[in-house]
Parts: sequence; C-alpha cells; structure tokens
Amino acid sequence: MRPTSLLHPSLARQIAATIGTPAYVYSQPALEQHAAAALAFPNAFGITVRFAMKALPNAAILRLFHKLNLHFDASSTHEAYRAIRAGIPSAKISISTQELSPDFIELLRMGVLVNACSLAQLAAIGQHFPGLQIGIRLNPGTGSGSTGKTNVGGPDASFGIWHEYLDDAIAIAHHNHLQIIRLHTHIGSGSDPLVWQHAALQSLALVRRIPTIHTLNLGGGYKVARTESEHATDLQNVGTPIKTAIQDFAAQTNRQLHLEIEPGTFLTANSGVILTRIQDITDTGTHGRRFLKLDSGMTELLRPPLYGAQHPVEIVPATPSPTDTSAASTSCTRHPYIIVGHCCESGDLLTCAPGEPDTLAPRELPIAHIGDLCLIGGAGAYCSSMSAKNYNSFPEAPEILVTADNSALLIRRRQTLDQIVENEILPNPPPA
Ligand code: LLP
Repeated sequence: MRPTSLLHPSLARQIAATIGTPAYVYSQPALEQHAAAALAFPNAFGITVRFAMKALPNAAILRLFHKLNLHFDASSTHEAYRAIRAGIPSAKISISTQELSPDFIELLRMGVLVNACSLAQLAAIGQHFPGLQIGIRLNPGTGSGSTGKTNVGGPDASFGIWHEYLDDAIAIAHHNHLQIIRLHTHIGSGSDPLVWQHAALQSLALVRRIPTIHTLNLGGGYKVARTESEHATDLQNVGTPIKTAIQDFAAQTNRQLHLEIEPGTFLTANSGVILTRIQDITDTGTHGRRFLKLDSGMTELLRPPLYGAQHPVEIVPATPSPTDTSAASTSCTRHPYIIVGHCCESGDLLTCAPGEPDTLAPRELPIAHIGDLCLIGGAGAYCSSMSAKNYNSFPEAPEILVTADNSALLIRRRQTLDQIVENEILPNPPPA
C-alpha cells in the first residue's frame, strides 16, 4: 500500500506544518472499509467481530469501531478498563490475557466477558464466580505467525490451555459449576491461511466435546499486505470453508454455533501512516552506505527492529515542485538509502531485510533532502501501541484521525517533558 494513497502529500505538509512531526495519521474511511470487510466474514449463524484493541487502543478509534458495531478483545485488565473509560459498554468487551490480575473480579462484576487462558485462571475465576458462563482459550496444537515472535500456537507457545488438557479444564469448570459456553483459539499474527483453517477445524472438533459451547472465537491473525511483495489473506477465501464446516457441524449435532473473529492487524494496519521528517543525511564514504535519518524511529515503530517487519516508505519533498504540485517525490534518479531512526541504537533501523532485524537492506528511493517528509505505511497496527516510548526521552507522538472530508482531527496530543517525568520522585532528604 502506498502511504500517499492514505495521506495525500498536500495534507501531509499541512499536518507537518501545524501539528509537527513525527505523528501517527489514521484514515477514518480506511478504518470503516476494513471494519465492513471484517463484518462480512463468512458465517452460518451470525458473527461478532472483536477488535483486538492492543493494535490501536486510542479512545477515538475505539469509539469509531463501537459505532460501527464492533466488539472488543482486551489482552489485559488494564485494556478492559481503558475501553470502558472510552465509553465501550462492558458487555462488549472480552478479556483473554496472559496475566489475569486481581482486578478481573471487579471487571467481571461489571459484565466484562472472560476467556480463561490457563487452568489456574479457570480455577481462580471459578473460585470467585461459581455458576458463571465463561469461555476458555485453548492452544489447539498448531500455530503460525509471520515470525516466531508472533506465533502463539503449538507446543512452543505458552498461550491458552493445551488442547490435551481439555478434560482437566472440564473438570475444573464442573467443580466450580462454571458453564463453558465459548471456545477461543488464536494461533498467531500473520498466520498462514492454510494453517489457520486447519486450526479452525481442530477447534471445531474440540467444540464437539463440550455440548454447552455455543460460540467459537477463532482469533485474529489475518495477513495484510503492507508492501507490494506481501500477500494479504482474503477473508472470504479463508472463511468460506469454515462456514461450511460450521453448517455441517449443525447438521450433525443440531448446534448452530455463533462465530467470533478477533482481528487487530486487519482492521488497522493499512489504515495508518507515520508522518516523519528527514532530519539528517549521512554516509560512510564511496563504498559505504547512505543514511536517511528520521525524526522518528523505534520510539514510534518497533516492528522492524523487533520482527524484521517491512513497511513501505515514500518521500514527500518539503515543498512541492512547480510541475508537480502535490505528489510524492517522483524524481527519476533513485538512490539506495538505509533509513534509520533517531535513537542511539544501531538497531533503530527501518530498512532491514525481511525477518532479519540486524541486516541492512537498502531501499531505492528518489533523491531525498534534509527537511523532506517521509511517510511510513502500514503503521496503523501495533505502532503507536507498541513502541519504545520515551527512549532517549523523545516525547510520545501525537495521533491524528483524517475524516472523509479530509479534516485532520487531533486525537492525541504530543507528550510534554513534564508528562514524561511526572511520576518521578526525588527522595527528600536526598539519599546520602
Ligand atoms: N486475539 C488475541 C488473543 C491476540 O493475542 C491477538 C494478537 C489478536 C487477537 C489479534 O491478532 P492480529 O489480527 O492483529 O494478528 N505485535 C504484533 C502482533 C502480535 C499480536 C499479539 N496478539 C505485530 O506487530 O504484528
């Protein structure tokens, strides 16, 4: 996806001049389009789309998705509170977490749903809420992710209750009079669609063993194409065989399962860009490298240093040329650039090789100058929410929502130095 197809160069310049750089910019029409596509996921007996809010938890985005009839997946009790604070009704929030902090008790009393993600969580929920209807997250034995770091299924993943322990889960639920009504599986982010389908069918087989289950949540993990060489998962293609399997299941068991999916990436990744400025250009001699240094980096975008993730970039000249008043740089002369961030880390690298965070991979880009803007695409998911925030004391960047009529609405201000240090305490008297 070309970043300038989401953020027009003239608006990029306008935002840079008024709000400054770096800034996250999200397109409301793109978010709406992705929500509509997710809600059209093939289903036999109804569907709930839960936004995995960890991808982009800004309150304005949560409210937008709420208005579009999405529900929400929270990956911690903190996220659940954040959603409630944003105005999301508690009954629309479901928690699936690696750490079930004690405040789950209050949240469940407020009507938040929960999927127990371990046998210990199941027992703890049962202790406090005997008789509750709950979900369980199972590890179906299969996983798939764009990298090992985003694969959360199979024997090497700590997520969910291992499928072979289903009888133990049933026994714990029985002991506490819990009624298991939902089965949840999520096998990874950027999953291979065939592995995803296989895991979905495995999940359906597990549902068969618990007659009280009426909802199957198949998690997220649908691939998007951030760059031209990546392949997106077609939701219709991946979902149709599952719809058929759920219909067959109904014919055999007389149980009409409600389907849930839980995308984060699909809904937001290609709905956002990071607007940055090239603040320096350096090189390491004739046979060396030429570096574009952004006023951004791992403080806004951790995915390349963490996963070797690929994000498209486009240079927008600081001022439009007389012949080309609004477009991104189209200069025919190209140069192999390494794009780096502003942190004092050689790992703060944007143009790494796919899946190899440490390997420099030059990008052929039009000749760039200090002061030009650089748009980083595919940055709506897990960028603002998953950054090396405040490293080198760079302030958290603002977030902007661009509406269909091209209004740029500020939905998060840039952090101030006061806010960065507000929780620090100087011991008084000072330590000897
Ligand atoms: N449901 C659960 C329980 C999850 O843990 C996740 C993601 C999702 C749904 C949404 O998955 P998605 O549709 O976004 O693939 N930070 C990584 C991805 C790891 C997300 C972890 N859980 C990234 O930048 O790609």
